[in-house]
Amino acid sequence: MNGESFDMPEMVNFGIVGCGRISDLHAPGYLANPKAQILAICDVDLDRAKTKAKEWKVSEGMVFAEFDQLLRLDELDAVELLVPHHLHAEMTIRAARAGKHISVQKPMANSLSECQQMIAAAENHDVKLRVFENFRFYPPYLKAKELLDGGAVGRPSSIHIKLGVSHAGGWDVPMDAWMWRIDPDTCGGGPLCWDDGYHKFSIAEFFLGDIEKVKAWIDSTGMFDDEDEAPFVVDAPAVFMWKYKTPRTYGSMEATWSRHGNFPSKYYSADERVEITGDKGYIWVNQCTANSLRNEAPVVTFIEGELVEYHNLESDWFSSFTGAVDHFVEALFMDSEPVLTGEQGMKIQRFAHAAHKSAQIGTEILLDELHD
Ligand SMILES: NC(=O)c1ccc[n+]([C@@H]2O[C@H](COP(=O)([O-])OP(=O)(O)OC[C@H]3O[C@@H](n4cnc5c(N)ncnc54)[C@H](O)[C@@H]3O)[C@@H](O)[C@H]2O)c1
Repeated sequence: MNGESFDMPEMVNFGIVGCGRISDLHAPGYLANPKAQILAICDVDLDRAKTKAKEWKVSEGMVFAEFDQLLRLDELDAVELLVPHHLHAEMTIRAARAGKHISVQKPMANSLSECQQMIAAAENHDVKLRVFENFRFYPPYLKAKELLDGGAVGRPSSIHIKLGVSHAGGWDVPMDAWMWRIDPDTCGGGPLCWDDGYHKFSIAEFFLGDIEKVKAWIDSTGMFDDEDEAPFVVDAPAVFMWKYKTPRTYGSMEATWSRHGNFPSKYYSADERVEITGDKGYIWVNQCTANSLRNEAPVVTFIEGELVEYHNLESDWFSSFTGAVDHFVEALFMDSEPVLTGEQGMKIQRFAHAAHKSAQIGTEILLDELHD
């Protein structure tokens, strides 16, 4: 968009496309934001869309099964794409051609060339493209980043990210939402390291900067039993190691599946922990999607021998969604760059691709040398 010819809108009219599981955490942000409204919604499962329309007070005439019908609405300004990954690129490009701004879920797309096409479409049609990666809006991560950038731990040397997922304890995930996730043709990879992994690759970069190279091992585990075969397998256990472009700075991550675990959660039965080390001490972020450690403060620091616990932080995972929604609405109002831009989103996608390629071929991968 060109700042000079920009007219401040009075209200941003959104279309939500895909009314599945995660739309429940997106819609409240749009409903609560005084500068936005959900004008229309779309889902190939029309009954599902109609149910959501009642909940979100969207008028009956604004409920569609066909994406193109929604895109034909002149008064629609922007779309929130909440659909399986193989549709991200195609729908982004169609929305850009229709002149609508786009918020598309992570992972941005299933190939780097698709990412490039999405960026080009948005540029050519003068619309904003943002990749929705809500972990960057999770208040405990924002607090940790503020401490890190303020020099609290001195010169950082490493980050460790732990993703643990269990089968039970979280909210109900409908079988159709699982089925496209465990099919690499629609998901692009596996549910832990590809789908959810994008968030972790994103925060790894958010905290410590650009990645030079990565080495990874991604195994597979039966979802319910050792004997399970495809498609009922997940991409775990997995271990990733990477080196940042900043000298003497490293990262690592593990993703695990606890088949018989029960991780109580208001959302997915998954949780994350992050440890950042510097030459003065540590920052720990003890929760994210769930709150497995219960009484631990969301952020704890141990710096030069002193332990500080940050208890009074908003730490419900839901707040990362409202933060991300509000940010995009503001970017449309102010004609400013959203987080993540298409380029930033593609950079994370490059990291994810390099990690998966490393696991496939068994050697470390330099990100700058990766071509799709
Ligand atoms: N940011 C996060 O933390 C987070 C969490 C979960 C999911 N997601 C992302 O959100 C997206 C949706 O995930 P979900 O868990 O809600 O999946 P889901 O399967 O529950 O919902 C997807 C919906 O899209 C609909 N759909 C499929 N094809 C369509 C089409 N051509 N046109 C219109 N609707 C169509 C389906 O009928 C379904 O209702 C994915 O990209 C996923 O990675 C993000």
